[in-house]
Amino acid sequence: MSAHGAPKPMTARASGPLQGEAHVPGDKSISHRALIFGAMAVGETNISGLLEGQDVLDTAKAMQSFGATVENLGDGNWRVHGVGTGGFAEPDHVIDCGNSGTGVRLIMGAVATCPISVTFTGDASLNSRPMARVTDPLALFGTRAVGRAGGRLPLTLVGAQNPVPVRYTTPVPSAQVKSAVLLAGLNTPGETVVIEKEATRDHTERMLAGFGAQISTEETDEGHVITLKGQPELKPQTIVVPRDPSSAAFPVCAALITPGSDVLVPNIGLNPTRAGLFTTLKEMGADLTYENLREEGGEPVADLRARYSPAMQGIDVPPARAASMIDEYPVLSVVAANATGTTRMTGVKELRVKESDRIDAMARGLRGNGVTVRDGEDWWEVDGMGAGKVPGGFTCETFLDHRIAMSFLCLGLSTQAPVTVDDAGPIATSFPIFMDLMRQLGATLE
Ligand code: S3P
Repeated sequence: MSAHGAPKPMTARASGPLQGEAHVPGDKSISHRALIFGAMAVGETNISGLLEGQDVLDTAKAMQSFGATVENLGDGNWRVHGVGTGGFAEPDHVIDCGNSGTGVRLIMGAVATCPISVTFTGDASLNSRPMARVTDPLALFGTRAVGRAGGRLPLTLVGAQNPVPVRYTTPVPSAQVKSAVLLAGLNTPGETVVIEKEATRDHTERMLAGFGAQISTEETDEGHVITLKGQPELKPQTIVVPRDPSSAAFPVCAALITPGSDVLVPNIGLNPTRAGLFTTLKEMGADLTYENLREEGGEPVADLRARYSPAMQGIDVPPARAASMIDEYPVLSVVAANATGTTRMTGVKELRVKESDRIDAMARGLRGNGVTVRDGEDWWEVDGMGAGKVPGGFTCETFLDHRIAMSFLCLGLSTQAPVTVDDAGPIATSFPIFMDLMRQLGATLE
């Protein structure tokens, strides 16, 4: 288990207005992929705007353990010298992915069809998360997983010596599972096919095509059918990582609930597989606009402007939108508590297997702060109390979950009494500059 250090409690108090520009860090999903695909290419990949959060740094370290050269050139610029598809060397130590489900699941896919054995572990949060969703499809390639009962880390993967291609329908909407199977398919002869009923983030497909793999997506009656031709030589790339919409969500939502706020969050990727929160906020009546909407690297990008919105209304968030905002439900529930009427979120059972059970973690903390929340296995609803009407005054448990910590710190900016989180330490996994950035906007966090 990785050391996480002593808990760092933090308190947010009624603040505002929040004003200015919020330059959020690079996209976490894209940063992991840039390092892993760079390590699987032959030659030198240059990455700028990499997220230097602990999750991504743990992936960088893992790539070095497999023999790739990974250099930090400063200012978010990184260089990876890859060893080629199937070229990973067997590490002489355990690979510790810290808090990162994306890191460990993608890396398991990447090593599954290399003739090596690798042992993976993580922190207490990661070691309690389900891994059978990845090891089950990897077994179809011929990969063996040996580990704890229930498919939890630590576990050892014994890579397939002679992998066979796979056709796999993902049983849960998960870009991590889809990506693990596609990465295993890279070092497998023939065509690997992944079918997903609901579209999930498509960064793996887009980036693999950029690295020169033959990959296509077809919409059929079965769902989204992704076909990858195995054993390509991946060509090194120059990658500019866009800023993370999941991190942008925090200053945006904080501005919507903090009196007098007007915040600009520049250069945010609005890939439709990621932008569900912003659509939802607009439906609730948020004063949220896309400025300077443009295309960059084939992706829609805009500067988001969020202004204080005291008249937001609760809505039913359609379950079909869940995959495109799966990481944003915790902070949406904070906005919902400041709206009028009930916000109902359905089709969201994946929230129960994230860095924490996010429905449970948010429900406990919101209730402690005076908000009525009802929940079931696959749904939850939050009764809005109106702008600035949440009592607050509670210390919320964050369960080693960065997004739970950031969500409650945003809540505390608009509550009547301060809100405390028991541990703000995990925020460094995805958004290491969160505290500084929010304070610069005018937030009181101490
Ligand atoms: C991610 C996929 C999502 C998301 C996670 C990042 C990715 O997880 O929650 O933060 O980069 O592929 P699932 O695939 O488990 O839905």
